[in-house]
Amino acid sequence: MERVTVNLRDRSYPIYIGANVLPEVGSLARPFGLSGRGTLITNPVVGQLYGQQALSAFEQTGIALTLLEVPDGEEFKSLKIAAALYERLLPLGLDRRSPIIALGGGVVGDLAGYVAATFMRGLPLIQIPTSLLAQVDSSVGGKVGVNLPQAKNMVGAFYQPCLVLSDVSLLGTLPPPEFRAGLAEVVKYGVIADKPFFEWLEENVAAILEGREEALIHVVRTSCRIKAAIVEQDEKDEGTRGVLNFGHTVGHALEAATGYGVFRHGEAVAIGMVAAARISCQVGLCSEEVPARLRALLQRIGLPTALKIQPKQLKETIGYDKKIKNNMSYFVLTKDLGSVTVAPVFDPLETLEGLSAT
Ligand code: NAD
Ligand code: GLY
Repeated sequence: MERVTVNLRDRSYPIYIGANVLPEVGSLARPFGLSGRGTLITNPVVGQLYGQQALSAFEQTGIALTLLEVPDGEEFKSLKIAAALYERLLPLGLDRRSPIIALGGGVVGDLAGYVAATFMRGLPLIQIPTSLLAQVDSSVGGKVGVNLPQAKNMVGAFYQPCLVLSDVSLLGTLPPPEFRAGLAEVVKYGVIADKPFFEWLEENVAAILEGREEALIHVVRTSCRIKAAIVEQDEKDEGTRGVLNFGHTVGHALEAATGYGVFRHGEAVAIGMVAAARISCQVGLCSEEVPARLRALLQRIGLPTALKIQPKQLKETIGYDKKIKNNMSYFVLTKDLGSVTVAPVFDPLETLEGLSAT
């Protein structure tokens, strides 16, 4: 089993990564001094597939878990569902060392993490991410939270887990479009921090798409290593952690402008990354090779790369920074594959209008 550590002083934690490692999660949790009673939060899809395995793994180490299911879907990452979970936790007689185990994709991880951060002012959290996006991104770094009807991820906390276990074998049941959407964030790590990893992705797309376990372990381990290094520098997202938003300025604007649900987040990020790389060229920061290679890799993965709507349709949602000047937006821009910088861009939509829509 591979191990990546997130070094955050007294909030440091290990991420274990491997194939067929779910049964080991109970023994990996042993050092954390947990009580014999806890909760497993999942949804019906993931619970049906992996709930029993997870329950047994903890039972073998003397931890009896109550399984609580939340409905499947982003719309259930809400205060209403969090409140319903508090009500169900109340009669279980939990104590401050009773763990909450989040078994699922990013929705379950963010919601269960938020409940763990707030119920009884904080219970130990173990993340068992089951989607690719959750294994490479949302289970790492401590952002937990729920959506408000008006805004995504508006209520939340920074609350680090005590342990993350990523079993790449679980990805075998993930619907292929979800798998591809998760790969957008993986490609992002190569662009923002690691050119050799980007090149490795170019060479190994086929093995990844076939689900070869060694390739998936490399993908998850490298992504977690890169995200951990960024989080270690700026845990509370006050500066440098912002590079994780590469592709997200246009991506978020596109999701909001088209109505959530038209594009998966990873699909919008893929489009946004190409847009950001093209703007980077336009302002003279990088060569044409960068967006060309990025677009080619994303297309081989099966992700969209063209904006599909007129750039001016993003005017309301792009989030111009009114504090600096009209029509300015902060962008993470590419200097080269593996190297980015954050800079304000004047009239990014105008720039995008001027580029052909491929
Ligand atoms: P998701 O949790 O909705 O999972 C996608 C779908 O796959 C769901 O239907 C889920 O039930 C299913 N699924 C998950 N694992 C499966 C498996 N192994 N087999 C079969 N089906 C499986 O979506 P997601 O993409 O994992 O996460 C998106 C969420 O993550 C968003 O709410 C987003 O805001 C959040 N997020 C959080 C962070 C963070 O730092 N906390 C970072 C990025 C994204
Ligand atoms: N997904 C962005 C972050 O964790 O900061």
